[in-house]
Amino acid sequence: MASGNGTNFEALVHACRSGALNGRVERLVVNNPGCGAAQRAERLGIRCHTLDHRLQPSREALDRALSESFQDAQVDLVVMAGWMRIVTPVLIAAYPDRLVNIHPSLLPSFRGVDAVGQALAAGVRLAGCTVHLVCEAVDSGRILIQAAVPVLDGDDRASLAARIQVQEHRILPLGVGIAAQRLRDRTAAGAARWRPADPPSG
Ligand code: GAR
Repeated sequence: MASGNGTNFEALVHACRSGALNGRVERLVVNNPGCGAAQRAERLGIRCHTLDHRLQPSREALDRALSESFQDAQVDLVVMAGWMRIVTPVLIAAYPDRLVNIHPSLLPSFRGVDAVGQALAAGVRLAGCTVHLVCEAVDSGRILIQAAVPVLDGDDRASLAARIQVQEHRILPLGVGIAAQRLRDRTAAGAARWRPADPPSG
């Protein structure tokens, strides 16, 4: 899932294709038609599905459509790689422990919008990024991996965000790998085989 430029999406695709991450990116869903992520998908030969949130009657309706798209693609894991919409329990419940997000701060600091600006305003000397599982409270689920970067004198949003992004591209595939390993461990320990539930109707 991506809303903007799509550099994290592309990093995941490359990690899979190089063998660094044992998986395959089956499809991309974007909410902004023609966004950078959609253009990257075309270049990389990955199927892209556009679900414009402006055409959906509610957040829940968008999440129901997302869930249907992922069930159609038979994916095991869903990654919010720069998804700028708040997700609802509709999607979270459909992919329990299988919905991963990347956020440009060292959570639990600076949740929500403009995390990089929040870090600059707070005057912290260390910033960074977090890959975590998604739960109902925004930017609050179980942390899988983090990376820290220094805040340098004279940094602005753009320079700090660029330094953070280098680390995002490194840790997003690692975080997805950790989420997948947790699921394999659980299956090995005898948990019932998971399959996606039918999305709630309505
Ligand atoms: C990334 O920095 C990601 O952490 C952030 O959006 C950017 C997307 O970049 N996500 C959030 O702020 C979610 N709360 P990209 O489109 O180049 O991957």
